[in-house]
Amino acid sequence: MSSSLEFIGTSRSFGEATVLHEVSLIVEPSRCVALLGGSGSGKSTLLRIAAGLDDPSSGQVLVDGGDLDGVPSEKRGIALVFQKPLIFPHLNVVDNVAFSARMAGQSRQAARRHAMAYLELVHLADFAGRSAGRLSGGQEQRVALARALARNPRILLLDEPFSSLDSRLRENMYSLVEDIRSELAPTIVLVTHDRREASILADSIAVLDDGRILQHGPVAQLHYQPATLAVNRILGGLNAISGQVDGGIHHSVLGRVRVQPGMVDGPAFLVMRQEAVRILPAGEGTAVGNVAGLKSLGAHTLVRTEVAGNDGLPETLTVEVSGDPGVSVGQMIGLQPVNGSGWAVIR
Ligand SMILES: Nc1ncnc2c1ncn2[C@@H]1O[C@H](COP(=O)(O)OP(=O)(O)OP(=O)(O)O)[C@@H](O)[C@H]1O
Ligand SMILES: [Mg+2]
Repeated sequence: MSSSLEFIGTSRSFGEATVLHEVSLIVEPSRCVALLGGSGSGKSTLLRIAAGLDDPSSGQVLVDGGDLDGVPSEKRGIALVFQKPLIFPHLNVVDNVAFSARMAGQSRQAARRHAMAYLELVHLADFAGRSAGRLSGGQEQRVALARALARNPRILLLDEPFSSLDSRLRENMYSLVEDIRSELAPTIVLVTHDRREASILADSIAVLDDGRILQHGPVAQLHYQPATLAVNRILGGLNAISGQVDGGIHHSVLGRVRVQPGMVDGPAFLVMRQEAVRILPAGEGTAVGNVAGLKSLGAHTLVRTEVAGNDGLPETLTVEVSGDPGVSVGQMIGLQPVNGSGWAVIR
């Protein structure tokens, strides 16, 4: 069974410093929301408040519409997995996972049987008898996940649980989260500062910046329709071209680009994902660019171009291409938005 989790105007101050400013966020049952934000933006504080390890200075936290105020941590049906797994090194793996059931008064045999089911889910059944002090980082993290899940939480809070793992292990953990979602369907809040991880795992992303939710929406919306320049930057967008909107058309060094309906006339930035621009031979496309730099990302390359318009200063437009872009610094190229239209933001 899973539940909805809702923050309503949740604020938290430590002395003079306000670290959460009236955060409002709804996580529907069985959905996975990624809370994406930089270091110090308030992500862990928000999770700690939901888990009952800290109290908000004002505002509410609701589960299935019921206020959690005064409900002790262990009665909330919420499990929190920390960035650094909390393992009891003196216990073996299965007893780590069986810990809460034992605390709740179950017999050792029943608690272990229950725990084994979760060790199987995280592919650690073969390690049940191993001392928990002799596990790798990835194995510890899986034990911590199994222990959280063994409590049958309605809501699972994951605080950067995979950030210390190498990239291969991390990919394994991503498929594990998918298995957990299809088998148990808990409501999940995943804290991360890795936008790729957020995009792979979550149904929607909430961007937290300096204690404020800047935007919450589906993964594609955050990438292609950011509410502000800050959201675009946090989602890794590299391009914001200054210009003017007039009658639904953005005018800039990129030429005339149709933008979203309802955009008011006036100065605005055209946000254009680096993957959503195509490089063409000089003379083709909607704009002309001069290649100013190339940066390899391994399988992809960033091509930084200077685009000059009829008037005003040149703008930088970066294009991401897979493989060898086949261009060199100093070369003139044509540029074209892939789908012919764009997205404008005011600030
Ligand atoms: N108990 C506390 N007393 C005073 N300040 C605190 C306390 N806990 C957190 N803070 C401050 O609140 C802000 C948000 O902290 P928080 O741990 O929520 O950030 P975060 O987004 O999880 O960052 P990170 O990605 O580095 O884990 C920080 O400036 C931090 O110093
Ligand atoms: Mg944190």
